[in-house]
Amino acid sequence: MVVARDYKSFTEVRDGLKGTIGFVPTMGALHEGHLSLIRRAREENDHVIVSIFVNPTQFLEGEDLDKYPRREEADRKICELAGVDLLYMPTTDQIYEEDELCIGAPKIRGYILEGAKRPGHFDGMLQVVMKLLNLSRADRAYFGKKDAQQLALIEQMVRNYFMKTEIVPCEIVRDADGLALSSRNLYLSDEERRRALSLSRALKKAGKLIQGGERKSEVIRSVMTGVLEPEVTKLEYVAIVNRKFQPLEEVVPGETIILVAAWVGKTRLIDNLWV
Ligand code: PAJ
Repeated sequence: MVVARDYKSFTEVRDGLKGTIGFVPTMGALHEGHLSLIRRAREENDHVIVSIFVNPTQFLEGEDLDKYPRREEADRKICELAGVDLLYMPTTDQIYEEDELCIGAPKIRGYILEGAKRPGHFDGMLQVVMKLLNLSRADRAYFGKKDAQQLALIEQMVRNYFMKTEIVPCEIVRDADGLALSSRNLYLSDEERRRALSLSRALKKAGKLIQGGERKSEVIRSVMTGVLEPEVTKLEYVAIVNRKFQPLEEVVPGETIILVAAWVGKTRLIDNLWV
């Protein structure tokens, strides 16, 4: 595995890779969720590129940019063992210059739910993902359904800008107790972790209701809220939307995503269920 830290050495190695390329962009502190993407990229392509870059433009003022976990050495080993060919760990000045040209998130889909709670987050996310997709020139790029709105917006960007990379959605990886894996889980104390389980529990309950024939979003949302409110510090939203992120009054199996965002202590968590 080659580790590149600047554009020039990255591009030199990239240019030497022949055959198909699978790409997994990350912000590091790698866990089994990231690994599932890397493994899939390994299976489906001749070469695998991973990037680790804690992208400052997708963090809002006052968010956790400074304390976001950085575990370079461990991440490097994980990538090496997973058969990654090229690991890109750029410094910020290798990615950004002053007075950048920016693409923006769509005004509606980019500013509801996560975009409403974190206005501007998706602009920065799309900006860096476009850069990374252009840099890697990958045939396929792998993204987790864990960040459902992020995934939908990246698919839209690739469609709207006629980009060539195929976006491959990957299933959510959970711990045995149901908690969706996230680098931010490292912030949770034992007690907070226990309370954080209410997110997956609420989603599971929603899944059961739907299996039992319930379709009304209002009913499902109120049952979920009942599970969440006693446990979380602050419930930000429970939303039931279609694949285009339009709110649904009734669940349509095969076309629905149920999303939740909540604070547990000082940690913000998201989770979702594709029905
Ligand atoms: P990061 O949070 O590091 O996540 C990198 C990728 O791993 C994303 O596609 C995310 O959806 C996926 N992922 C995270 N947890 C997962 C889980 N439990 N199961 C399955 N996939 C999971 O998302 C980002 O970084 C950044 O926004 C990025 C796209 C790299 C742009 O900066």
